Amino acid sequence: MTDPLLVVAPMEGLTGFPFRRVHAHFFGAADAYFLPFVTPTTLPRFTERQMRELAPDVNIGIKAVPQLLTRRVEDFVWAAKALADLGYDEVNLNLGCPAGTVVAKGKGSGFLREPFELQRFLDKIFSADLPIQISVKTRIGWADEQEFDLLADVYNHYPQMKSLTIHPRVRSDFYKGEIRENVFEHYFHTFKMPIGFNGDVITVSDLERVKTKYRPLAHIMVGRALMADPALFRKAKGGAVATLSEIQTYYDALLESYCVAFGNVKNALMRMKEYWFFQHNLFDNAERAVKAIYKAKTMEDYLSATRQIYENCPLRTESSFGWKKELL
Ligand SMILES: Cc1cc2nc3c(=O)[nH]c(=O)nc-3n(C[C@H](O)[C@H](O)[C@H](O)COP(=O)(O)O)c2cc1C
Repeated sequence: MTDPLLVVAPMEGLTGFPFRRVHAHFFGAADAYFLPFVTPTTLPRFTERQMRELAPDVNIGIKAVPQLLTRRVEDFVWAAKALADLGYDEVNLNLGCPAGTVVAKGKGSGFLREPFELQRFLDKIFSADLPIQISVKTRIGWADEQEFDLLADVYNHYPQMKSLTIHPRVRSDFYKGEIRENVFEHYFHTFKMPIGFNGDVITVSDLERVKTKYRPLAHIMVGRALMADPALFRKAKGGAVATLSEIQTYYDALLESYCVAFGNVKNALMRMKEYWFFQHNLFDNAERAVKAIYKAKTMEDYLSATRQIYENCPLRTESSFGWKKELL
C-alpha cells in the first residue's frame, strides 16, 4: 500500500507564493501545496491580486492546488475552467473556513448548515463536465458532530471527487480543543473517494500514527506545525532535522521574498511575525524573546530580536504544540 502524500494546508497569509517557493527550495517540495482560498467574483475574471498567487510561473516546480471559496455554481464553474486554462489539474472547494464574515454569507463551513443546498451545488459542479478534478476540504459540521452523518452521505454521492480532506472539528470549535478524531475514525471506511486527514498533526510520530491507523489514506495535510518546523516532511521521509543555520537562512530568504513581494518592509515584517507565532515553538524558552519580535517596528528591531532567539534559545528537534487552545 502506498504511503499517504504529505501536503501543505492552505493558510491565508502564510502559505502564499513567497512561502511555497522558499520552503520548497530549502526543505524540499512537499507532495502538494494547497493554495489559500480565492473568492471568485461574478466578473468572471481573477483579479490582478489573485493572479499573483495563481500565475503558473510562481508555482513552477511544485504541485499547487488552488482553492475556491464560493457557494455560487456559476462562479465555481468559470473559476474552475479558468484554473484549468492556467494549467492546474485540481481545484479544491473550501467547506471549512470558520470566519464570521465568510459563514455569514453561507460560504466555507457556513455551507455545512445547508446540506441539501450543498448537495444541489455539488450535483451541479460535478455534472458540469469541468476539465479539472474537484477535491473538497471540509469540517464535520456546523455546531454538532452528529451533523456529519448527513454530510458524509452527501459527499458519498460524488465518488469521482479527487479527494475529501476532513478536518474533524465543527465550525463552533474554530481551531480550539481536541480534534474529534472519533468521528473521522467512525466514517473513514464508509467513504467512496480518497480521504485526507487534517488537524493537529505536529510531529513525525503523529504523522506515523495517522498513517498507520488509517489505510489507505490519500494524504495527510499539515498547516501550523509546518510553519513551526519547515523540515517536518523532510524528517518524515527519513531526512535530517533542521539546523540552526538552515532556519536562519530560510527565514532570511522568506523575509527577503516578502520585502520584494510587498515592496514594503513594514508589511513584510508584519507577515514574518505571523510565522514567528508558530516558528518560536521550535525553540526552547522562546516565549519571552518572541514578544520582542512581535513588538519590532523596524528591520533593526526585528533582526536584533530574532538574533536573541537564535543565540539564546536552543533549537528543538520537534516543535512543541504551543499554539494549542483549550475549548472554553
Ligand atoms: C491563519 C490560518 C489561515 C487559514 N487559511 C485557510 C484557507 O485559506 N483555506 C482553508 O481551507 N483552510 C485554512 N485554514 C485552515 C488550515 O488549512 C487547517 O485546516 C488548520 O490549520 C488545521 O490544520 P493544522 O492543525 O495542521 O494547522 C487556515 C488556518 C489558519 C490558522
